[in-house]
Amino acid sequence: MKAKINLSRFIYLISFVLIFLFITYSIKVNGEVETMIITNQEINLPKPKFSGTTSLEESLYKRRSIRNYKNEPLTLQEVSQLLWSMQGITDEGWGLRTSPSAGALYPLEIYIVVGNVINLESGIYKYSPQNHSLKKILNGDKRKEIFNAALQQESIIQAPANIVITAVFQRTAKKYGSRAERYVWLEAGHAAQNLLLQVTALGLGAVPIGAFYDEKVKVVLGLQKDEEPLYIIPVGKK
Ligand SMILES: Cc1cc2nc3c(=O)[nH]c(=O)nc-3n(C[C@H](O)[C@H](O)[C@H](O)COP(=O)(O)O)c2cc1C
Repeated sequence: MKAKINLSRFIYLISFVLIFLFITYSIKVNGEVETMIITNQEINLPKPKFSGTTSLEESLYKRRSIRNYKNEPLTLQEVSQLLWSMQGITDEGWGLRTSPSAGALYPLEIYIVVGNVINLESGIYKYSPQNHSLKKILNGDKRKEIFNAALQQESIIQAPANIVITAVFQRTAKKYGSRAERYVWLEAGHAAQNLLLQVTALGLGAVPIGAFYDEKVKVVLGLQKDEEPLYIIPVGKK
């Protein structure tokens, strides 16, 4: 009798644990199971450099879309420099950034899909300009998922890291109404060009990718409904 009660308690406990695990680690998005946002872990990036050996003119001259990369990791210093070039804070007082923004409303968000970066676990991270840090939002190498969401473009899977620009249009629309759409696209161009020139100055290679399925990229990054992916930019050693 006692054994029977213990067994049913055990089954009850196991069912409870399984249901809990299912709810915690999986959410159903657009018919696909997506890993849930997992941690609040914050990684401080090394300080970016404010001077370099390659001139702006040389970077402009040398910038080219590079789609093949060596099988070598990026360093954390390189990641720091790349993210800073896109949205780094350059005026502490007003919080102004490396890229201009209509009304300084900053609708862009920057993610990095890490597969091979020294001292940075594979996963998806979100850049915080305020702290110049990364917040890990998903564990594991997700390059294959991004590759599949972007017509299986080889550069995505080859690159040690892919930078994704997203935007919350509403941040700009609340002030500029229907004009916001135009402004947000323009801002993505500013941030992307900053990145491409910084990539060139560091002697790295990158290509801006616009051909992808928005909904699929949204699922991989676990984006909210109001946040749209605009650009995927694989970066690696050329
Ligand atoms: C909005 C936009 C979308 C692009 N999408 C892709 C893409 O999906 N895949 C790709 O390999 N290159 C893409 N490119 C890169 C272009 O193919 C490239 O810029 C063009 O061939 C000129 O070469 P260059 O960048 O070396 O000057 C894109 C460029 C822009 C501006």
